[in-house]
Amino acid sequence: LIIEPDYKVLSKWAATYIAQRINKHNGERPFVLGLPTGSSPLGTYKELIRLHKEGKVSFQNVITFNMDEYREIPREHPQSYYTFMWENFFGHIDIKPENTNILNGQAEDPEAECERYENKIKEVGGIDLFMGGIGPDGHLAFNEPGSSLQSRTRVKTLTYDTILANSRFFNHDPDQVPKTALTVGVGTVLDSKEVLIIVNGFNKARALQHAVEEGINHMWTISALQMHAKGIIVCDEAATYEL
Ligand code: GLP
Repeated sequence: LIIEPDYKVLSKWAATYIAQRINKHNGERPFVLGLPTGSSPLGTYKELIRLHKEGKVSFQNVITFNMDEYREIPREHPQSYYTFMWENFFGHIDIKPENTNILNGQAEDPEAECERYENKIKEVGGIDLFMGGIGPDGHLAFNEPGSSLQSRTRVKTLTYDTILANSRFFNHDPDQVPKTALTVGVGTVLDSKEVLIIVNGFNKARALQHAVEEGINHMWTISALQMHAKGIIVCDEAATYEL
């Protein structure tokens, strides 16, 4: 658990860590990076873009897999995770578009889409580093409370708490928020060689307390990180309020 004074320093720490991992990676196979959406990673994306513009990191030899995607909206929708990633990160770096993977929320056969995603992760040799955020209820990706800690990529129904939390991106109207999503499982994340979770703000303090001080519990899916040999949480002071 790494505690930084504020969000800016935290974001710099996370971006520097990721850039170092990419730069140290031997070039025989691409570096495979798992990525989240949400407001938590925005500062890290900004900082990675800055490092890229300064010539300190390149994404030419990087393959990415995003954590999740909403189901009921097309990828062109302003709030789709596809749009988010291109607007906030991919559109500003030198990544090859064919190396970016995002679940297709509109797939006619969602189960087949989830299986394809898991297989693709295996084909490229697994994920080297999975970056993530958490919801106020401790969810990781869209692994809502009660998700199996061995879960794989699948369709999940969002809890009302998550719909309410995410309604800020949908005109504060819970009715406009998609009710289901495709998400990697907790097991999928735990299979990565390293996991780096960003936690900031008072509204995540309870989740952080459950993640690091309570037992492993499927009602707080982030607590599964305790089972990972290289699970890192980087947080700001505000998030430590309940520790
Ligand atoms: C969504 C995403 C999660 C993310 C969470 C928190 O539910 N599926 O991956 O961690 O939001 O978002 P924020 O960082 O905006 O608080």
